[in-house]
Amino acid sequence: MKSTQYLAREPDESGFIHYPESEHQVWNTLITRQLEVIENRACQEYLDGIEQLGLPMERIPQLGEINRVLEASTGWRVARVPALIPFQTFFELLASKQFPVATFIRTPEELDYLKEPDIFHEIFGHCPMLTNPWFAEFTHTYGKLGLQATKEQRVYLARLYWLTIEFGLLDTPEGRRIYGGGILSSPKETLYALSDVPEHQPFDALEAMRTPYRIDILQPVYFVLPELKRLFELAQEDIMALVHQAMALGLHAPKFPPKAA
Ligand SMILES: [Fe+2]
Repeated sequence: MKSTQYLAREPDESGFIHYPESEHQVWNTLITRQLEVIENRACQEYLDGIEQLGLPMERIPQLGEINRVLEASTGWRVARVPALIPFQTFFELLASKQFPVATFIRTPEELDYLKEPDIFHEIFGHCPMLTNPWFAEFTHTYGKLGLQATKEQRVYLARLYWLTIEFGLLDTPEGRRIYGGGILSSPKETLYALSDVPEHQPFDALEAMRTPYRIDILQPVYFVLPELKRLFELAQEDIMALVHQAMALGLHAPKFPPKAA
């Protein structure tokens, strides 16, 4: 576990989490800006989720509000966690249909980029897609596989997660759209991902597992699903066999410069 400057907020005796007004302001700034940017860029399934969630604009939502919507749509919940959690906890949560949410929000100084996923990233980025049964099934399967995987296998699974749940694109009758929460919670990456700067490759789970990534840069390559149902189909396939194949074949050369020391 890496260190973090952030501390997740604890609920009071009635389960309510109090945030100072300045933090509600950060939420308001982020959601106002991002709802505009995702127009004609987010996929319809995500927008349907946004509509179902009915997120407040003027304050950070309480996790119970999110749970009511997720439970009714796909049986998922969000789970309150500290700022950073071990991989083991992460997989345990996903395997029991719980999506981890750290109850802190970025400072105004880190409005555009922060390393630790905050409540805006988790709720605005990921929760809309978790109302979709295909996406939810894939995420659940991913959690169950990760729980049984070895440390080395988990690294390959993590790349698949990164290039789907975090940074996935999707072809739709209306054009190319975004479903990845890492993109949809970032104004800069939402514009960049659909521009002609990065490379777009047709989705291939084996290739995704072999594609190295860095968390601190815009992605040089995105994988494009032919339709969201492909994730559901993948969940029925032997993903661990693909992990073994990817491990035998090894990683592709990175399409990004090495991290400066
Ligand atoms: Fe995320």
